Amino acid sequence: MDNQQFSKPVLGIETSCDETGVALLRWEPAAPGRGLLAHTLYSQIKLHADYGGVVPELASRDHVRKLLPLVREALAEAGLTPADLGGVAYTAGPGLVGALLVGAAAARAMAWALGVPAIGVHHMEGHLLAPLLEDDPPAPPFVALLVSGGHSMLVEVAAIGDYRILGDTLDDAAGEAFDKTAKLLGLPYPGGPALAALAGQGRHGAFRFARPMTDRPGLDFSFSGLKTQVLLAWQQSDRREQTRADIALAFEEAVVDTLLIKCRRALATTGARRLVIAGGVGANRRLREELAKAGQQDGFSTYFPRLAFCTDNGAMIALAGAIRLAAGQHQGEAVQVFPRWDLETLPPAD
Ligand code: KG4
Ligand code: ZN
Repeated sequence: MDNQQFSKPVLGIETSCDETGVALLRWEPAAPGRGLLAHTLYSQIKLHADYGGVVPELASRDHVRKLLPLVREALAEAGLTPADLGGVAYTAGPGLVGALLVGAAAARAMAWALGVPAIGVHHMEGHLLAPLLEDDPPAPPFVALLVSGGHSMLVEVAAIGDYRILGDTLDDAAGEAFDKTAKLLGLPYPGGPALAALAGQGRHGAFRFARPMTDRPGLDFSFSGLKTQVLLAWQQSDRREQTRADIALAFEEAVVDTLLIKCRRALATTGARRLVIAGGVGANRRLREELAKAGQQDGFSTYFPRLAFCTDNGAMIALAGAIRLAAGQHQGEAVQVFPRWDLETLPPAD
């Protein structure tokens, strides 16, 4: 592979769940954020709201409708034409199989038509690298807390592409816990942001829930018991608006505190001095504040993506893809997706 090609922009495509994300990024190793030329996003939230969760078939069909218009929009925003592209990156997994296939088929077809390489990106590697798009990007080694709708993981990042999972969720992911708890409290889908907003009206100390699995060694997470505690507290309460907010706050505090305890433990275990936070729950204000405060107290640095790059987006996929394409990696022409895909099996990126 001629690495000169990667002075050319890479098109990034994200369609793993309910967001269609597209971005154009020119690979700039020292400051990847500077190479971001355009990014566009279409969220399917309204489409799934009536069902209280993502309906996979509807998600796939909507990606079909929105993907190419978004690609055109991103190219126009960057003042580019398809012929300017040096490569195409797309989310190949993990995610919903039909949704992944839409992005993979479109990306492979475009790459084939343009005669440029294409690469399938691991969605969680995308999340994990998203903070590199900000000023003062973190350099490995670092520990990454990946908290999204599908995952709660602590990952030791020795180098880009060299990942060791230190802890994982045993049941609900952090975002899933937010979403399910919000539903129990009668909040609209998607629950995470709605619950966080309601928690802002809560009174500290009115309720207190357990910090699951912090009383024993290890870095795994379990949030499903917390959900049951919330349900019981709500059912046994006076069900007033203020009470609902108090419960939301106590839940948010319990999740944030649990994540903080495990992050501190992961940093102590690995000796790392840098903590990267990414994934949709990384948009949570309390989590950002508490982790930043802990960093100041303990002497570790914290790195967060901007809010728009915490949740699913095309920029993180363009970035992860550009790094691997620049290292000469790409795959054959088959349209292949991996709905389940272990992050630890990725090859090094250089
Ligand atoms: O990373 P993401 O966009 O999609 C997945 O890959 O899963 O994460 C979405 C998750 C949802 O569960 C959503 O409720 C949660 O992130 N989320 C939040 C907040 N914003 C999004 N959870 C708590 N507080 C927030 N502010
Ligand atoms: Zn995600």
